[in-house]
Amino acid sequence: MLAYALARPLLFALDPETAHGLTIRALKLGLLPPAPADDPILATSFAGLALPNPIGLAAGFDKNAEVPDAMLRLGFGFVEAGTVTPLAQPGNPRPRMFRLVEDRAVINRLGFNNAGLDAYAARLRARAGRPGIVGGNVGANKDATDRIADYVRGIAAVRDHVGYITVNISSPNTPGLRALQSRDALAELVGRSMEARGAGGVPLFVKVAPDLTPEDVADIAEVCGAGGADGLIVSNTTITREGLRSRHAGETGGLSGAPLLARSTAVLRAFRQATPLPLIGVGGVASGADAYAKIRAGAGAVQLYTGLVYGGPGLVAKIKRELAALLRRDGFASVADAVGVDA
Ligand SMILES: Cc1cc2nc3c(=O)[nH]c(=O)nc-3n(C[C@H](O)[C@H](O)[C@H](O)COP(=O)(O)O)c2cc1C
Repeated sequence: MLAYALARPLLFALDPETAHGLTIRALKLGLLPPAPADDPILATSFAGLALPNPIGLAAGFDKNAEVPDAMLRLGFGFVEAGTVTPLAQPGNPRPRMFRLVEDRAVINRLGFNNAGLDAYAARLRARAGRPGIVGGNVGANKDATDRIADYVRGIAAVRDHVGYITVNISSPNTPGLRALQSRDALAELVGRSMEARGAGGVPLFVKVAPDLTPEDVADIAEVCGAGGADGLIVSNTTITREGLRSRHAGETGGLSGAPLLARSTAVLRAFRQATPLPLIGVGGVASGADAYAKIRAGAGAVQLYTGLVYGGPGLVAKIKRELAALLRRDGFASVADAVGVDA
């Protein structure tokens, strides 16, 4: 991607949120050539979803579902739009997103800034019938009195227009949200979410934090399994800070990118050992080897966001090429054959 090599210094000279806004506008113009067809070794089935490849776009890049088809065209095997909340909300004051260049990382405290459920659902409805799996990631407004009711509203509004639904209870930037990961609250959330999804509906996944104790992992695995959730997404950003060098290391918010890789993969492996539920591995993926490590630790599919900030749009094709080569090197005939071999 020569164009990105030229654009990157310009984008990095801008505040990261401004650069992101420009990227979304460029994608809306549809300037991208379609990616070539995927290597057949990458085709896989995840929780009943037929994916051309297991590399997905993580939530947060396309919060308002403005560019899911452009991101599919870039070569992602699936795209997750959101997090959306029932009502539009501005999020936290700027600046609230920071590049940690020396650490290949980002810290964000955006706080679910988004244009609300009506606009989001209308965009997804408008793409009905187009190929490609787009997931809807739903959350709760900051000042909701009944947070679970916000998830229920989101699920009801998107369920007929998405390939899957993600219930995001792991953003560190909405105070108290992650308390929904605790046993009793989670049981109620999963119960009401599954009811809103309805029998025979699209798969419903729960997205969790990487900052969990072994007891938390056991509880979440048990409650989600018992409640009928179709899978877990492991993980969101971390509130921990270890070994960072960048001057922005002290900013409040969720840390993503390279420093999250080992922690999120370890939590993923712990979930693999705790539950047979399908797992999506997310956190710090920037190469085929990173994606392969997630798969071997138990992920049936993988997602990324921060890697794109540093690697640009050409990263998706590079990761897929490297992953296919690693599978062949180790004698696997498919992605599914490699899932969990290290767990
Ligand atoms: C700027 C930014 C915004 C994000 N917004 C969301 C969000 O709205 N909902 C969500 O579930 N995850 C969100 N995430 C988390 C990512 O989906 C992902 O779980 C996390 O960044 C780890 O993956 P990565 O290291 O590949 O970025 C966001 C991440 C970043 C960097």
